[in-house]
Amino acid sequence: MKFFAVLALCVVGAIASPLSADQANLVQSSWAQVRNNEVDILAAVFTANPDIQARFPQFAGKDVAALKDTAAFATHAGRIVGFVSELVALIGNESNAPAVNTLVGQLAASHKARGISQAQFNEFRASLVAYLQANVSWGDNVAAAWTQGLDNIFGLLFSKL
Ligand code: HEM
Repeated sequence: MKFFAVLALCVVGAIASPLSADQANLVQSSWAQVRNNEVDILAAVFTANPDIQARFPQFAGKDVAALKDTAAFATHAGRIVGFVSELVALIGNESNAPAVNTLVGQLAASHKARGISQAQFNEFRASLVAYLQANVSWGDNVAAAWTQGLDNIFGLLFSKL
């Protein structure tokens, strides 16, 4: 019985393996290199995943290169990338866990209501990592820190989606 109680606690949304201070620094310093490239990042996600673009009524079916110059695209890119920035700023400090939980809970609720699947979130993740790999000082240690951080966030997200 005790075993199941412990298992349930593990499954219900706790961050599995918090990042070490060094790993949090690696994620934060690499993110700082691209965090202002909001439009570029969302354009890379849309280009790699037309199915994600198709979920946005105002962007569906439009040419991504042309969209990049519009205010509506910049606004939405700012929201998504700004959300990543909020999470990145909170990692590495256990006392921020409740804030992370609240933010991820809001993302899950608003996107569950839109019917966004885990598969699409995984596509987003893969495109984000590909963008980082191409645009920041990348290496095995940076990759491992991002993998662990994203595993934590996506584990939490999928437990709520
Ligand atoms: C993976 C596939 C995703 C799809 C298909 C998707 C789709 C959408 C749609 C249709 C909207 C409403 C846009 C509008 O108001 O016109 C939206 C809003 C938003 N999305 Fe996503 N989204 C995805 C992933 C993400 C991710 C990974 C993040 C954060 C890192 C994110 C953050 C937001 C935010 C902050 C908003 C605005 C607030 C809200 O309405 O919830 N989205 N998303």
